[in-house]
Amino acid sequence: MQEKPTINLGLEGIYFGESRIAMIDGINGRLYYCGYSIESLADNSTYEETCYLILHGRLPKGEELEKFSAMMKESRDIPQNILDLIKDMAKTAMPMDILRTAMSALPAYQKKQSGNPDEENFAESINIISKSTSIIAAIERIRKGLDYIKPDHSLGHAANFLYMLKGTAPDSKHARILDIMMILHAEHGSNASTFTAIAAASTLSDLYSAIVAGICALKGPLHGGADEASLSMLYAIGEPENTSTYIDDALSGKKRIMGFGHRIYKNYDPRARIIKKYLEELEGDADEKIRKLAKIEMEAEKIMIERLGKQKGIWPNVDFFSGPVYLSLGIPKEIFTPLFAASRSVGWCAHVIEYWKNNRLIRPLDYYSGEIDLEYKPISER
Ligand SMILES: CC(C)(COP(=O)(O)OP(=O)(O)OC[C@H]1O[C@@H](n2cnc3c(N)ncnc32)[C@H](O)[C@@H]1OP(=O)(O)O)[C@@H](O)C(=O)NCCC(=O)NCCS
Repeated sequence: MQEKPTINLGLEGIYFGESRIAMIDGINGRLYYCGYSIESLADNSTYEETCYLILHGRLPKGEELEKFSAMMKESRDIPQNILDLIKDMAKTAMPMDILRTAMSALPAYQKKQSGNPDEENFAESINIISKSTSIIAAIERIRKGLDYIKPDHSLGHAANFLYMLKGTAPDSKHARILDIMMILHAEHGSNASTFTAIAAASTLSDLYSAIVAGICALKGPLHGGADEASLSMLYAIGEPENTSTYIDDALSGKKRIMGFGHRIYKNYDPRARIIKKYLEELEGDADEKIRKLAKIEMEAEKIMIERLGKQKGIWPNVDFFSGPVYLSLGIPKEIFTPLFAASRSVGWCAHVIEYWKNNRLIRPLDYYSGEIDLEYKPISER
């Protein structure tokens, strides 16, 4: 038998490649996209500009951004076949499952743009980034028995999503906060979903397949699904005064507190810090239910930092404060994770394209610890 090798469960601490897209300093709680701090992008950039940055590795000049934004607008509308698929699935399926299936179906209704692979990848990326938010708006409206609303090309990406979701011109403050939420979710290095997308792409499969793989991996509550799970936890806590008992019971039962902890950040997730600021900004205008959720969050944050923050490096992550922010913007819980996927689609596309520049099939090893040379017995003798 082969000697048992060192096994890195969860590929923890393993470098599988080199990238120029995101830098995460988990010890100091810092995040950069292509060299720009997440704080400076949240303060100054737009989702469209950040997408350009992530895809091209540099900020655009004025004309470049105009052209890029126009291309994103042109790609927003979704084919009738996809709408029909959504209508059929919305009767029984959850939004994340519908998004996954719709994304998988998308290339069937998409013309190839050119024979040039770089141009093709770029056009497909724009199509994926742009259409994913339209698909989510369509899913939510159709689930509620409402009609699909066509995109409004006079609006930016985030504002158009709110318009397609609600059918009314969005409040500019809400549109800007959603724009920032999308910037914060756009990219995050080789996390589980990005790695899954890259692993699929490393077989030289196509971009849409890689993105579908990314969506599948993002769905789980240990990754992107934590935003919905965290809100469900706040509902389960119910009242701010129950927070401490809930957390103590959960921790003594070895349960996870959703929206806390991270494989890389052993400090406050910088995205959570930014989202918390916007939650505080929105709280004043929010209704009683959202204000109560925000109170529970502030209490849970304080208790968790006291109990596990410094001691174990468990701090709030990007998914903790997101729920009440999205609810304040009129975005329901069922589409939090799909919206995360849509925002992250740019990071997935950029990583896949970057990986393809120096592609190597991803094929790690597992150590076989079972038996060998067993005698095969006919079924009647087992
Ligand atoms: C994200 C996550 C999977 C990272 O986990 P990881 O790097 O594998 O960390 P580990 O599972 O090794 O946990 C280390 C210790 O912290 C504890 N811990 C980690 N996250 C915790 C959480 N959210 N609540 C309570 N305890 C937690 C573990 O129980 C473990 O304790 P132990 O050493 O006493 O056994 C984990 O923090 C988690 O499950 N968080 C909740 C889900 C979530 O918010 N996901 C979104 C991430 S952006």
